[in-house]
Amino acid sequence: MISVKDVSYIYMKGTPFEKTALENISFDVAEGEVLAIAGHTGSGKSTLIQIMAGLIDLQSGFVEIDNLPVTDKKIRRLVGIVFQYPEHQLFEETVELDIAFAPKNFELSDAEISARVEEAMRLVGLPPELKKVSPFELSGGQRRRVAIAGILALKPKYLILDEPTAGLDPLAKENLLKEIFGTVKKSGVTIILVSHNMEDIVRFANRVIVLAQGKILFNGTPRELFVQDKILARAGLEPPPITQLLHKLGIEENILSLDEAEKIILRRFHLPNST
Ligand SMILES: Nc1ncnc2c1ncn2[C@@H]1O[C@H](COP(=O)(O)OP(=O)(O)O)[C@@H](O)[C@H]1O
Ligand SMILES: [Mg+2]
Repeated sequence: MISVKDVSYIYMKGTPFEKTALENISFDVAEGEVLAIAGHTGSGKSTLIQIMAGLIDLQSGFVEIDNLPVTDKKIRRLVGIVFQYPEHQLFEETVELDIAFAPKNFELSDAEISARVEEAMRLVGLPPELKKVSPFELSGGQRRRVAIAGILALKPKYLILDEPTAGLDPLAKENLLKEIFGTVKKSGVTIILVSHNMEDIVRFANRVIVLAQGKILFNGTPRELFVQDKILARAGLEPPPITQLLHKLGIEENILSLDEAEKIILRRFHLPNST
């Protein structure tokens, strides 16, 4: 379990440029859940996940990962973090070397590293024949998979992803989401997903935390969130398009998916079932 308790963070503290990024943030992440962290740009999402991964020093409050303080070096093996546009950090000559880069710091045998590279490639859906290819010959979507595989090769128990599909075309985005919430999730990792895409959150997250101006506005299920119009408006978020459409049609029920929408539209407008 990850416990975040009373965490506040101020950038450039003690200068005229002080900027409060987080204020009294408390929540837990249970093993096996998919937790989404949503919020407008500047709401504090990236600061929060960097604190959870021990990359930004705490100023107040505390974070514990499996009962270890986040300052303990052992947590580096527990928490993997994939930054936004992680493919910008690829630099090795081959896909294999790039994925092996971080595990090489962990005193693992060559055989173990190579097994981890293969497994990580499988999890993100990269065919093994790409091992010897330069990352720079790959498509944008494939490069991002290489970067994610590099983190998975560390075998983290908790995987934090900051807007993992930002900037990808719709097909690459959909394929990557299927991989992350299919094979990667099945491998047993607990996923913390930073996203402002409400459709993705509805489809994949068990729980969502909404941040606005460094504070938690909401912590609950996606279904509970989408009846909270005021919270959504304050956070600058919108329900999924299908939910908005049904509201425009005067159907105020809390419909989140296409399947649910189909059923209710057929019923309301007395249409024959298509199947
Ligand atoms: N390195 C930094 N120095 C000063 N202010 C920063 C820095 N990084 C982020 N901030 C500020 O902290 C707030 C939260 O930023 P961030 O955590 O990046 O939010 P998000 O990821 O939700 O867009 C914003 O007001 C941002 O401008
Ligand atoms: Mg961010």
